[in-house]
Amino acid sequence: HLSKLEILERKNQEALLGGGQARIDAQHKKGKLTARERVDLLLDEGSFEEIGKFVMHRSKDFGLDKEYYLGDGVITGYGTVNGRLVYVFSQDFTVFGGSLSETHAEKIVKIMDLAMKNGAPVIGLNDSGGARIQEGVVSLGGYADIFYKNTLASGVVPQLSAIMGPCAGGAVYSPAITDFILMVEDTSYMFVTGPNVVKTVTHENVTSEELGGASTHSAKSGVTHFSCANEVVCINHLKQLLSYMPQNCEETAPMLPYETSNEVRPVLDSIIPENPNQPYDMREVIEGIIDGGTFLEVHQNFAENIVVGFARLGGRSIGIVGNQPAVLAGVLDINASTKAARFVRFCDSFNIPLLVLEDVPGFLPGTDQEWRGIITNGAKLLYAFCEATVPRITVITRKAYGGAYDVMNSKHIGADMNYAWPTAEIAVMGAKGAAEIIFKREIAAAADPEAKLQEKVDEYQQKFATPYRAAHRGFVDEVILPSQTRQKLIRAFKMLENKVDTLPRKKHGNIPL
Ligand code: COA
Repeated sequence: HLSKLEILERKNQEALLGGGQARIDAQHKKGKLTARERVDLLLDEGSFEEIGKFVMHRSKDFGLDKEYYLGDGVITGYGTVNGRLVYVFSQDFTVFGGSLSETHAEKIVKIMDLAMKNGAPVIGLNDSGGARIQEGVVSLGGYADIFYKNTLASGVVPQLSAIMGPCAGGAVYSPAITDFILMVEDTSYMFVTGPNVVKTVTHENVTSEELGGASTHSAKSGVTHFSCANEVVCINHLKQLLSYMPQNCEETAPMLPYETSNEVRPVLDSIIPENPNQPYDMREVIEGIIDGGTFLEVHQNFAENIVVGFARLGGRSIGIVGNQPAVLAGVLDINASTKAARFVRFCDSFNIPLLVLEDVPGFLPGTDQEWRGIITNGAKLLYAFCEATVPRITVITRKAYGGAYDVMNSKHIGADMNYAWPTAEIAVMGAKGAAEIIFKREIAAAADPEAKLQEKVDEYQQKFATPYRAAHRGFVDEVILPSQTRQKLIRAFKMLENKVDTLPRKKHGNIPL
């Protein structure tokens, strides 16, 4: 005969075991942690408070009336990460393969409601065989309830999704709506239809990993923002990511203590090569400007011609968007535009100031880009910058050509401070292309067309391939020595920290999707 206290203790023990020891062992054998182990790794020690530990499913079909597990395949609750409140749900693959039932969905929705009312991030640790097959449409309804909440919560509180196992079918659309996706290499995959269906419909032979593994989604599709070597790395990335964010859209990210030192960075003076067609790595510029070792690159393997990520500058959390001259000369194409646009919108949603480092020769020409809609997609980045009301600063390190000059956070579309290095070239296009067009007849008529072309290129270069025309107009606020950049930016972001700017009243804008 058990006392009432003992009954509770026994139930608590039962809940901790999820689908039972054998399935826990099977999970470990796959190189995966259990749902509870993941929560423990994520949250500050002893901070987890579980909600809905004894929830059970309500299905009677297909023998489910004889199979119950406390918690029903998802562990939900709240706790702290580095002392800051977060809500978390962690799907338990040992219970019906982590599949989503009506009650499983209700538990997730419950913590999302709490997160929105109390203004704290939601972190989803996904590991699920999808809809609970025995429940049918009731399970699908559960998914839709979550998608709806994800959408309502978007821009209110940060939402992060770690994919730590299967995530297939409709299940993918919850992470897709959240702000950041992290995947674990070799043990996670995401796709709307798996390899078997793909084979039937398109006759392609493809493995789960090729179709939707971490490397595929980090490099080819851009679906995931981070590809992590293992679950521990993934959870550490989640924590680091959170450190740059505020708790909700009404707050700003916490400042880190910062002591003035090391402000002048001579290393920046020698990064730009003499020859304007020679590449350099914009990451070196970033490292040269920010607080040491604080850069967290987002979408590192996708659209590498643009670099985006979070960093600290004088202790302040900022978002950085930089053209990358080391890849495709830093040209803007469809993927680069959508990658950067989404990042800009995240930062603007959550009051994270933006720094743009510009070296862009223009948009990528060609039928492939035009036919796939570089116009619509490039416009996303333009729109995202235009709409952003956070403090926005641009530093033109070298090329700022054509329409891309306007797009990359120019003064004209609302940037607050625009700096240029003496190496900046702000013009409609490169000098050679420009000379060939405007002096076409003169060059053709010349005794030595080659020499004439060179003369005209030099002329155009001297007139326009500098920051000074833009500075005379005030489109550039100051031409600065590269080594001064860090100091100038720390001061300017401080000057802008109480910026108030609002958009015209509207229901919502219509970003070209
Ligand atoms: N509904 C109910 N139970 C499910 C389930 C689902 N969607 N997906 C998996 N399970 C159960 C399995 O029956 C199994 O139960 P058991 O432990 O009692 O044997 C357990 O979860 C583990 O699944 P298993 O197939 O043994 O694991 P696996 O690692 O070999 O494969 C999947 C994982 C996800 C690939 C595989 O389970 C699968 O294809 N599931 C169905 C996916 C799907 O089509 N979902 C519906 C569309 S959204």
